[in-house]
Amino acid sequence: MKRVRVDQTVDDASSVGDGERPGPTIRIVTTGPGSNEAARAASTPATAVAALPIPEEEAVFDLRSLSCYYGDFRAVRDITLRAPKNKITALIGPSGCGKSTLLRSFNRMNDLIDGARITGQVLYHGVDLYADGVDPVEVRRRIGMVFQKPNPFPKSIYDNVAFGPRIAGYRGNMDELVEESLRRAALWDEVKDKLKSPGTALSGGQQQRLCIARAIAVEPDVILMDEPCSSLDPIATLKIEELMHELKQNYTIVIVTHNMQQAARASDLTAFLTMGTDRAGYLVEMAPTQKLFTSPDNRLTEDYITGRFG
Ligand SMILES: Nc1ncnc2c1ncn2[C@@H]1O[C@H](COP(=O)(O)OP(=O)(O)O)[C@@H](O)[C@H]1O
Ligand SMILES: [Mg+2]
Repeated sequence: MKRVRVDQTVDDASSVGDGERPGPTIRIVTTGPGSNEAARAASTPATAVAALPIPEEEAVFDLRSLSCYYGDFRAVRDITLRAPKNKITALIGPSGCGKSTLLRSFNRMNDLIDGARITGQVLYHGVDLYADGVDPVEVRRRIGMVFQKPNPFPKSIYDNVAFGPRIAGYRGNMDELVEESLRRAALWDEVKDKLKSPGTALSGGQQQRLCIARAIAVEPDVILMDEPCSSLDPIATLKIEELMHELKQNYTIVIVTHNMQQAARASDLTAFLTMGTDRAGYLVEMAPTQKLFTSPDNRLTEDYITGRFG
């Protein structure tokens, strides 16, 4: 069993991935109990009710009153939700409502954008990802991301997959790791005879699975996907959806999609966001996917899923 030692205080809550291959004990908190996590938690005001009552212990992500800003502009407002372990959580909503911004806050990818900041909290296995002492590089290793447009490196298929582990100083058998990652991404059979070919020479759907293999190779716990199928044809899209279904046995997945059929087909839970007059995206409703698409509680959700808006 792989253990994610995030901090002494949350050691039990943070063991993940019973089905995963054994991996090293890792820490995302580089400083000890001296971090100001508790102080931050204490200073965070009580927030809106959680959209869906997911028990704290099942939550891989626990967002508390999260707002995301670019400079003075608030792109995402006051989001409180939980994403459970080994499930697929979909984020849907009209273009520009902050889905990508929100998703990037799950692994501190927004840190790389000048002027981006958050208020509120993103707890990951109970640990505040934005607390002092948390190493964003380690956060992004644990919480991988697959982007809208497949973006393999201009390297061979093999080297694309081996890239992350090499940087992380992986000392195991690289051939095995590459093979296993490609197998998990349902790509091995299609590429096993051309591992030295450039990743960019693959079809779009294969490239996206290569990017998933690359994400998997560093043994993450979560895979974030931002509209991973938007540039793919329907068959490649279905293949990725099937793959997501396989992957959730070992990983927690959060996917942004503007394709409602995809959310309905592929996810367990769906969160619907929309924009206020201030253009800040906010959470309207989160529910088990089937419920959200058949009997949403909120009129705004109903208008959106029936195509009256967005
Ligand atoms: N790097 C950025 N700098 C400034 N504003 C941004 C940046 N990225 C996104 N935004 C703004 O934040 C809002 C939400 O964008 P985004 O998260 O991309 O929405 P979505 O993914 O739902 O289409 C939009 O108003 C967008 O213009
Ligand atoms: Mg987006």
